[in-house]
Amino acid sequence: MKEVILGMEAEITELPYEIKIDRMFYYLLKDEESYRLVSRACPHAGALIEAEDGELVCYMHGWCFDAHTGDCLNIPGKRLDAYGVIAREGQLIAQFQD
Ligand code: FES
Repeated sequence: MKEVILGMEAEITELPYEIKIDRMFYYLLKDEESYRLVSRACPHAGALIEAEDGELVCYMHGWCFDAHTGDCLNIPGKRLDAYGVIAREGQLIAQFQD
């Protein structure tokens, strides 16, 4: 497993929070219970997801995603690729499985 420090939790005040790791684009999201890191690559055809008005939107064909979970709002069962995030000593850390 690879861990990547995303930043200090207290300094990340607005979500979705845009993050670039190894030339890949992500958003940090949070639902009622936990954080997650989601890929900004649309699961339909790979276009870049944008945050707008409380949703995550793909302008290529119009799919929309929940800004707390990454679940697709148009196509049940589709979702953005997600990675676990833990808090450790005030830092948020993404965990990428090998
Ligand atoms: S590539 Fe995103 S909806 Fe088609």
